[in-house]
Amino acid sequence: MILVVGGAGYIGSHLVKELVEKEEVLILDNLTTGHVEAIDSRAVFVEGDLGNEEDLDPIFSKYPIKAVMHFAAFSLVGESVQDPYKYYENNVANTLTLLKVMLKHKVKNFIFSSTAATYGIPEEEIILENSITSPINPYGKSKLIVEQILTDFHQAYGLNYVVLRYFNAAGAHISGEIGENHDPETHLIPLILQHLLGERDSISVFGTDYPTADGTCIRDYIHVTDLAEAHIQALEALLDGRKEAETYNLGNGLGYSVKEVIETCEKVTERKANVVLAERRAGDPARLVASSDKIFNELGWKAVRNLEEIIGSAWEWHKKGE
Ligand code: UFG
Repeated sequence: MILVVGGAGYIGSHLVKELVEKEEVLILDNLTTGHVEAIDSRAVFVEGDLGNEEDLDPIFSKYPIKAVMHFAAFSLVGESVQDPYKYYENNVANTLTLLKVMLKHKVKNFIFSSTAATYGIPEEEIILENSITSPINPYGKSKLIVEQILTDFHQAYGLNYVVLRYFNAAGAHISGEIGENHDPETHLIPLILQHLLGERDSISVFGTDYPTADGTCIRDYIHVTDLAEAHIQALEALLDGRKEAETYNLGNGLGYSVKEVIETCEKVTERKANVVLAERRAGDPARLVASSDKIFNELGWKAVRNLEEIIGSAWEWHKKGE
């Protein structure tokens, strides 16, 4: 059985939909940002908190857990600057509790959701896993601290792990059953689509004077189902002993500017956006584009869904309520 902590959240719920085809799945989620309706009925669900040993212990005693996949983190850069305690408490301290209970129960395989935010403002056009990690906000720092904990725990306790550094996760499940549902929403693609549905008056472009071709920020958007598939390959590599301690980027290797994303949303939806040029948002690097060659070379994974498919799937999901 695989324990998916945060399996009711955006990325966790998409992972579960793929994983239940292959493994018995147990979800632990406290439903603070996850949604009960996103929980796959084929998984066992326990409502509980990863920071609470009293919630964790019985689960590990009751179920034959062979690996843990951890998605239950806070992930808003701006909020992390306003309220760093919240980020260090949940993303670091609670993860430490989870690791402690895992080790106590001799569960030694761990898949960890990390982020492009660990790199800070990168020097390279294309970011490699060994590029300098110098996060510029508490969110990125909280993830990097856990990565460092994992390195030490591997050496000291034989904990095996794969760290997956996501770039910009987007899109929705092909079934139309689950998608991106944050409250408040801060991500570019859902905000554009909500605007095109008439739920918002306009879409703001945060900064038009970046050193990029059209002056707007460039990001590497990756379909959430591509992310899910990468997790499954990483899990298989851990379980069959091919990997013990690895870190991989997960991106498309393609960068799109904010303006290009808006244009692609207009094309896919056949609707016109009311675009407002706005000031820069604090803490946004001009360009974040991943090399995912390492995971392709080692595990054979690569992203196969392009920006139009990402936006198309998100649109199908968002307009369900129209
Ligand atoms: N943007 C706009 N207008 C909006 C919202 C976003 O112009 O209304 C811009 C942002 O400034 C940024 C780009 O669109 O340039 C993408 O922004 P998102 O908020 O969608 O995503 P981020 O790149 O800020 O965040 C992602 C992940 C984080 C991670 C971060 C690393 O969601 O978890 O990359 O920088 F920390």
